Amino acid sequence: MSFFGWICCGNGSNLKENEKKRVSWRIFSLKELHAATNNFNYDNKLGEGGFGSVYWGQLWDGSQIAVKRLKVWSTKADMEFAVEVEILGRVRHKNLLSLRGYCAEGQERLIVYDYMPNLSLLSHLHGQHSAEYLLDWERRIKIAIGSAEGIAYLHHHATPHIIHRDIKASNVLLDSNFEAQVADFGFAKLIPDGATHVTTRVKGTLGYLAPEYAMLGKAKESCDVYSFGVLLLELASGKKPIEKLSANMKRTITDWAQPLVREGRFDVVADPKLSGKYIKEELKRVVLVALVCAQSRPEKRPTMLEVLELLKGDSKEKLSALENDEMLGPNPAISLSGAEESSEFILEEKDSKEELKEVAVSGKEEMHGS
Ligand SMILES: Nc1ncnc2c1ncn2[C@@H]1O[C@H](COP(=O)(O)OP(=O)(O)OP(=O)(O)O)[C@@H](O)[C@H]1O
Ligand SMILES: [Mg+2]
Repeated sequence: MSFFGWICCGNGSNLKENEKKRVSWRIFSLKELHAATNNFNYDNKLGEGGFGSVYWGQLWDGSQIAVKRLKVWSTKADMEFAVEVEILGRVRHKNLLSLRGYCAEGQERLIVYDYMPNLSLLSHLHGQHSAEYLLDWERRIKIAIGSAEGIAYLHHHATPHIIHRDIKASNVLLDSNFEAQVADFGFAKLIPDGATHVTTRVKGTLGYLAPEYAMLGKAKESCDVYSFGVLLLELASGKKPIEKLSANMKRTITDWAQPLVREGRFDVVADPKLSGKYIKEELKRVVLVALVCAQSRPEKRPTMLEVLELLKGDSKEKLSALENDEMLGPNPAISLSGAEESSEFILEEKDSKEELKEVAVSGKEEMHGS
């Protein structure tokens, strides 16, 4: 296989050495990755997702890597795996975590990335870094716009266009400057028939899943827009996508935020950890865009290009139109969550179905209770 190579942007021969490094990828040997990760030592483990475990490692040249060791690998032929990875490896954007390479030896399938020293957005909002208050408003708005840029690139500029399908806080990684790097795009394509993976992913990603995707399993760009809306709300409020209110009652972040937004109480939506230190106009913008993205009707959601325009404040008219939108204005004609529809969610996996039902039912209880 000749998948060694430079993925060159423009005139490759004139690229400086460090630029070459940035745009190059290669095939790694299993031996090299064993050495880099201390034989996939438990102490090197960064975490585990639906596709497998991720390990921190260091290469012989001192550079730090993150190695994803796939736990299920499909019946896809070696060549197909390599082709898919090669396509993903070709995607280069400042807000997308690029691949450094892969390893396919025997039954092992591994993907190698640059290690992101500030870990994931999840770790700062709800995980090991959350007590450190490192996410001030300036960083949050940079992360919001940066991740939108990355996803907009996947949807509108990458060839072929890529639907992410798994946008969530653990898939937004942060580099040394707290610049967002969206990770794991196109992954679903690598493991098309891994049942375990699907179950874990649907479960793990529940709060971010567009209702029509949960029901029909058909991914479109608008499903990513929905997930991105949930992510934006999470970033602005510091709340989790689904909050457990009691043993059998859960509430989605959109159900929580929508009434507050209708009453214009953006200060209550803002993360208390910000201690009121944020730019009011920007926060309002982020929250409004979040809600318009995470609405149940896919055809009413904006595209990621429109999202970017709105987030950057480039389109004042569109933003004021949003404020007076039937959904977000003082007297909403439409419910955001579409709780009636969500009670009809059908999923193949039993546990996912039950969890979804639980969410839908609690959503209804909420509405009736208030
Ligand atoms: N390049 C990286 N640098 C630093 N941390 C990483 C890197 N890649 C992944 N991680 C972290 O490792 C953990 C496991 O990642 P993984 O992608 O397997 O799971 P996930 O993001 O929780 O779910 P999913 O499988 O749906 O993507 C996550 O906390 C993730 O943020
Ligand atoms: Mg991930």
